[in-house]
Amino acid sequence: MTMRFLTGILFLMFFLPNASGQVFTEKNQPYQYTITKKMVVDKGAVVSAHPLASEAGLLILKMGGNAVDATIATQLALAVVYPNAGNLGGGGFMVAQLADGNRLALDYREMAPGAATRDMYIDSAGVASTQKSQNGHLASGIPGTVAGLFESHKYAKLPFALLIQPAIELAEKGFAITESEANSLNYLQGNLKKNNTVMPVFYRSVPWKAGDTLIQSDLAATLKRMQKNGKAGFYEGETAKLIVAEMKRGNGLITEQDLKNYVAKWRTPHEFDYKGYRIVSMPMPSSGGLLLHQMMKMVEDRNLGAMGFQSPAAVQLMTEVMRRAFADRSKYMGDADFYPVPVSKLTDPEYLKMRMSSYRPDAPTPSTSLEPGNVNFHESEETTHLSVIDGEGNAVAVTTTLNGSYGSKTVVGGSGFFLNNEMDDFSIKPGVPNMFGAIGGDANAIHPGKRMLSSMTPTIVLKDNKPFIVVGTPGGTTIPTQVFQNIINIIEFGMNADDAINKPKFHHQWLPDELITEKGFLPKTTEAMKAMGYLMGKERGGIGRSEIILVRPDGKREAVADRRGEDAVAGY
Ligand code: GLY
Repeated sequence: MTMRFLTGILFLMFFLPNASGQVFTEKNQPYQYTITKKMVVDKGAVVSAHPLASEAGLLILKMGGNAVDATIATQLALAVVYPNAGNLGGGGFMVAQLADGNRLALDYREMAPGAATRDMYIDSAGVASTQKSQNGHLASGIPGTVAGLFESHKYAKLPFALLIQPAIELAEKGFAITESEANSLNYLQGNLKKNNTVMPVFYRSVPWKAGDTLIQSDLAATLKRMQKNGKAGFYEGETAKLIVAEMKRGNGLITEQDLKNYVAKWRTPHEFDYKGYRIVSMPMPSSGGLLLHQMMKMVEDRNLGAMGFQSPAAVQLMTEVMRRAFADRSKYMGDADFYPVPVSKLTDPEYLKMRMSSYRPDAPTPSTSLEPGNVNFHESEETTHLSVIDGEGNAVAVTTTLNGSYGSKTVVGGSGFFLNNEMDDFSIKPGVPNMFGAIGGDANAIHPGKRMLSSMTPTIVLKDNKPFIVVGTPGGTTIPTQVFQNIINIIEFGMNADDAINKPKFHHQWLPDELITEKGFLPKTTEAMKAMGYLMGKERGGIGRSEIILVRPDGKREAVADRRGEDAVAGY
């Protein structure tokens, strides 16, 4: 038994807010929650996809935790109250700017199992099966989230045993589900039946309805094993056995050795300057930071601000830089531990100037001539983001995912958590689009132990070396283009945080060759884009769900949760 664990138990015994050892008390018990979308506070704030998860983070801040503590507690709570994307069976990325000036990027992306092969989804006729890379046991990479939580805990102040306590309470006592959660669980039923060997708590014969209580006893037991045994409480022992047994029942690949070998990795954050701001984001194996860098640098000298928000000129310019960056993604980006991603070439000012040499302000550059640039080097959309800041000025941005909504749709029998379907984020065959329509090749081919390319873009914008914006969003390949718009909306169009994330968005990723707009996008601009020759995709009800904290010049924190979902802020 480690010293740290003993300290945790002592803390739980003597310092929890009530005698029963609970973090949620009468005052903020799980059944009573309201959704607060916006708050301006002096000290700390948490913004996440679920009010109970934000509340869990806030309780931890108020108990003396820092932003890292609150981030860990919020992620664990999301694994209970937001099973669509909050997870133990998935992976994610954390970017942090600490009050002491330290900058962190933690990679806990899933990894291909040891037995994975490059062509594992291609049949004898050469046909690639996205059905297999997206659903069921073969779709899962080795989960990274739990390793990431424990690795980031090095920068936390409170015992892990306490940080996991709100999640345990939410799983054990349950919480009332909302109408949209009920609808989403009802929609899932057929897939649960198809992809599970043991029917999980989410499966039932009568439809779910708003107000039903979701109690997750198996998940509570899994969380308690982590509370007792740390990282080994997940990657070894009972939970590991349950995962491997599930794999055997469903012909999946993950072994006990795969689980034991998994490590979260510290990376150097991807950083660049934009008009005096320092942008800190995620490097490979996420393409997010690099794409953001390319897009922002391609617009930096073009006076976007003067063009005006959602003007045809601004939308056209931003669309063209999105297309160029995504074309490069398809060829050059993948896990840099396995493939020499030419990051400095792709962000070289001369290269970006060359990429923009074919740009015309009144017409689309043909997609065929946007083929990835020659850099001459040698060799669901369901994710969730949380933004956190504390009173000391530590800021954390985390984006975490199962990939599709409820991941592979397979719950580990007896463990209560969904496994990811992240293998689909590899290029399963050159030119075959993944669930987000993204294509890839060698750089992102499957290899044992390799991490699949992501688009997640947890980002912190610094002003005078202090956090100014903490932001991120779910949305698959739309993530980098949304984070791009969120930041541009503030820096170039002078918007407040609320408008910056909630105004309708647009997206282009080179291929498929279509411009996607969100409901509410200016019809006049849509018409202008069509007139210039852009192919318009189907209008979407919502693009992503951004969570943002903006630090005002007087130090106050403006925290805003996206209006597209039940996302909520909590702060003090
Ligand atoms: N699974 C979505 C992403 O990582 O980009």
